[in-house]
Parts: sequence; C-alpha cells; structure tokens
Amino acid sequence: MYNQKVLDAFAHPQNVGEIENPDGEGTVGNATCGDIMRITLRIVDDRIVDAKFQTFGCAAAIATSSTATQMVIGMTVDEALQLTNARVVEELEGLPPQKIHCSVLAEEAIKKAIEDYRAKKENKTVDKSHIDYV
Ligand code: FES
Repeated sequence: MYNQKVLDAFAHPQNVGEIENPDGEGTVGNATCGDIMRITLRIVDDRIVDAKFQTFGCAAAIATSSTATQMVIGMTVDEALQLTNARVVEELEGLPPQKIHCSVLAEEAIKKAIEDYRAKKENKTVDKSHIDYV
C-alpha cells in the first residue's frame, strides 16, 4: 500500500515535537477522519529556521508532516506558503489515492502557523483553542 519512502518517513519521522515559545503555531484537523496535526515554527527575519510537528494521525499524516517540516526549514515564509500537499506527496514519491486527504493537514498547518506568526508581528491575537477542519 505505502511505498518504501513513505514507510521510512513514518518509521523514522524527523522534527517530531514542539518548539518552545514558537514564532508561529498552527493546529488543524482532518474533516474526513478527525485526526489532528500541530506545527510550531521558529522564524528569524521571515525565514523558517526550525519546524516541529505533533500529529495524532495515520502513517500518511506522519510521513507527510515529517517531510513537509523538512521541506520548509530554510524557506522564507512566502516560499513556505507556496508549498502544496501535492508537492509533499511528490517528494514522498506518491501516496495511495485514498490517503491523499491525509497530506492536506501539513500544508494547512504550516499556513496556519505562518498566519499566526504574521498576526503576532502585527500584535493581533489569534484564538488557539479553535481547530480548523480541512
Ligand atoms: Fe486521518 Fe490519515 S486517516 S490523517
């Protein structure tokens, strides 16, 4: 069902955990299955220097979280906003069609974390208790 690259990313996920006092954080849920992903970012001068994730979800969600965090480290926030779930799936050399919806979590959590970062920069408050289901 899963290719070897996905299985490796699931078995040895990178960037698991949480950044203390993150510059941006985003939590999203998957409307299809109810699984949840949280991403925290360290951002310096609009560039992502660290990214960590906590995913309560399936193997595809964990593999895509790991890969997406690896991909955004080093990107500017504008570049990271362009990262799509399709690009993450391509990096993993594909997911089974019924698991594509799982890859949307990482894209949306990164976008939400960047939104939070921008809101903090503008001294706006963001409701962290709210989870968007995508
Ligand atoms: Fe829920 Fe994959 S089945 S994220």
